[in-house]
Amino acid sequence: MVTYLLDWAGLLVRWLHVIAGIAWIGASFYFVWLDNHLRPVAEPERVDPGVGGELWAVHGGGFYRSQKYRVAPAMLPETLHWFYWEAYTTWLSGFGLLCLLYFIRAEAYLIDPAVAPLSKPAAIGIAMGVLIAAWLIYDALCRSPLGRQANVLAGAVALLVAVEAWGVCHLFSGRGAFMIFGSSLGTIMVANVLFVIIPGQRELVHAKRQGREPDAAPGLRGKQRSVHNTYFTLPVVFVMISNHYAMTYGARNNWLVLIAMSFAGACIRAWFVARHRRAGNEARMALPAVLGVVTLIGVAAALVPSFAPNGTPAARLAAPPVDRAQAERIVAQRCVPCHATSPTQAGFNAAPNGLVFESIDQLLAHLPEVQQQLTTRTMPLGNLTHMTDEERASLLMWLGHRP
Ligand code: HEC
Repeated sequence: MVTYLLDWAGLLVRWLHVIAGIAWIGASFYFVWLDNHLRPVAEPERVDPGVGGELWAVHGGGFYRSQKYRVAPAMLPETLHWFYWEAYTTWLSGFGLLCLLYFIRAEAYLIDPAVAPLSKPAAIGIAMGVLIAAWLIYDALCRSPLGRQANVLAGAVALLVAVEAWGVCHLFSGRGAFMIFGSSLGTIMVANVLFVIIPGQRELVHAKRQGREPDAAPGLRGKQRSVHNTYFTLPVVFVMISNHYAMTYGARNNWLVLIAMSFAGACIRAWFVARHRRAGNEARMALPAVLGVVTLIGVAAALVPSFAPNGTPAARLAAPPVDRAQAERIVAQRCVPCHATSPTQAGFNAAPNGLVFESIDQLLAHLPEVQQQLTTRTMPLGNLTHMTDEERASLLMWLGHRP
């Protein structure tokens, strides 16, 4: 019953997380797009003095005319819309999900004894530490003298992120490591909104209400953090969907995959931003897109599965050959506790992903996925059923060389 309720909690919180995330990133992409498409006002005498640019759009059956002030209007309107609850809701629901899956069930999702034999409290403590430390170090870098040169700062942040990717992949299961990495980038993004971007806007509004010149520094700091957030977005979204793709987080050098995919995501975002801005020549503008796509192709080529022809990894592992009955026994013992109509493994309420392996034919119906999960060692989940390396190799060999 508890498992069933936890499943529902997970479903509802995940639903909220996706919806809040769409609202947040949707608005944030929209404003980056808007800013980059503002054009000088055609008839300056017909708009407020102080308007620096405008944009016309047609959407939802009507015309919109957005105008942006260079600093602030002479008079603030009564109602001023702010955008922050989308970000906070995304973080709160995301943290809830992290607790529900990766912390409460750390032994299945976060810990891999073959990577680091962490106890559950240690794994959770380290994961929380990573989330907090990543923000503190990032924030300190931005506030340090490095922060005054955008390119130097970008390099330092990229290095920090790469070191983190390497570190978490040497502490947690592949899936857990990717999720902690993505969560820490997401945390940095939301902390940027909470501690830097929104306070900067508050200062702007206060100054205006008190009739003094607003201090430009907080606004500039907010702008810098917004730019970082834009480049973090695609890597974070990659991580959030990566748990469906064991070939990425289950790869032997999964930390390199994580860095490369994040780099590709940031490059592709850079290309979008450059396109909106339409500054510089077309060839230079396309450079980040080319870099991003080449990186993606490189990752895909590097991860070509080695079991493809006929069970090569099994041959490499030199395991005793097994017959159909023995293969069936391994599956019954190591997979069926979870992959059954009524799982017997504690914490599982229904067959994961609807996959039932009560007969070997049911397993063979999903042969490529099964081979992938076995080769990347992502199944059995958290190796909760204690599958031995020999059993893994024997099963892979039988699957690859069936008569
Ligand atoms: C402790 C429970 C557990 C055990 C034991 C287990 N699995 Fe899974 N399996 C899961 C869960 C949970 C998922 C769904 C993962 C997700 O969230 O995408 C899953 C998903 C899968 C998938 C689908 C992956 C995909 O990309 O869609 C395959 C294939 C699979 N398991 C094979 C196996 C095999 C083969 C074994 C035995 C060697 C096994 N599993 C043992 C829990 C388990």
